[in-house]
Amino acid sequence: MKEKVLIFDTTLRDGEQSPGASLNLQEKVEIARQLEKLNVDIIEAGFPASSPLQFEAVRHVGDESGKIVAALCRAMENDIKSAHDALRNARYPRIHTFISTSDIHIMGKFGHERYGKTLAEKQRSILKMAVDAVRYAKTFTDDIEFSAEDAGRTDPAYLAEIIEAVIEAGATTVNIPDTTGYTWPSEFGKKIADLKQRVTNIDQAVISVHCHNDLGLAVANTLSSIENGARQAECSINGIGERAGNASLEEIVMGLKVRSDLHDFYTDIVTEEIYNTSRMVSSFTGLIIQPNKAIVGDNAFAHESGIHQDGMLKNRQTYEVMTPESVGVPQTTIVLGRHSGKHGLQARLSSLGYKVTGEELEKVYERFLSVADKKKEIYDDDLRVLMGDELNKPLE
Ligand code: KIV
Ligand code: ZN
Repeated sequence: MKEKVLIFDTTLRDGEQSPGASLNLQEKVEIARQLEKLNVDIIEAGFPASSPLQFEAVRHVGDESGKIVAALCRAMENDIKSAHDALRNARYPRIHTFISTSDIHIMGKFGHERYGKTLAEKQRSILKMAVDAVRYAKTFTDDIEFSAEDAGRTDPAYLAEIIEAVIEAGATTVNIPDTTGYTWPSEFGKKIADLKQRVTNIDQAVISVHCHNDLGLAVANTLSSIENGARQAECSINGIGERAGNASLEEIVMGLKVRSDLHDFYTDIVTEEIYNTSRMVSSFTGLIIQPNKAIVGDNAFAHESGIHQDGMLKNRQTYEVMTPESVGVPQTTIVLGRHSGKHGLQARLSSLGYKVTGEELEKVYERFLSVADKKKEIYDDDLRVLMGDELNKPLE
């Protein structure tokens, strides 16, 4: 039996926290509509208590979305109330409350004596705040997510204790964030397996993960946690988010889809909408996508080397593990440059209407290489000029 992994998209919340990114209300609403087309399970629309714009954005998205809409809030009454107010007309509201649980966060962020003097005393206060927050949020809606911030660096016994207590208080999703992107895939996977062992009521909640990419391991950590029992993946389009970003939605989803031979998980993402969503998020946030970005970068389906182009022309599977169409990219691109071979050049010329074979092709290829040595990429217009020089007319 295949098991579903829920996709929780946090582009509009953590993603928008990316340095340099900011979205206006209209842009947020449009992205949320596109996320619906992509068919994510949960849209985290923002952090209502953090600003009036955030509040309004959550309200608008909640008002019109047919998906679960989550609002983030600290484990504090005012924040929780604000999340509830912003979501009051949402069809499927989720209150997502969080508090820090690692020693380093507790000592750094809860240094005041009112939380206790020793680490152990502070841990007690935080556990109580977490439970109180979940109980209070539960008075507004049934769908409550609790996040143990910096769970990646949290003591396993304390993490298990707080997770058990918030489930007891009514949390229906328990999120284990690797807030600082510090863990390794094997380590993070074991953390999830360990929680499943230690937390006696874990079956009453969905285990979620939220991995940051500080060491470039966010997607790997997410996949490892899914193998070990997580059933909700928090992620963002193009992997945008705080610092080095969040796990990228498109990489998790395609990782699961392309390697379905390795496991029994699936998502309900309409993968053909990935590319449109990615472009929309990039253009609205102003965060450009690196060309070699997996799945959605300009070069993700571009082939330049002669050997690769030749292989691709014979059978696309030689160098592509998924089709561009499967993620909504219009087509594979054969990029002509100095690494290209004769077959790639011949195929492109043929698509432009030039039939070149034998000796003619040798001559054209020589000229092509001398131009390619001076230019990074050879465009179709360059080829037309080159062919005009060489043969003076395209064949009918
Ligand atoms: O990275 C993090 O820990 C978060 C939580 C608020 C879920 O973004
Ligand atoms: Zn985060």
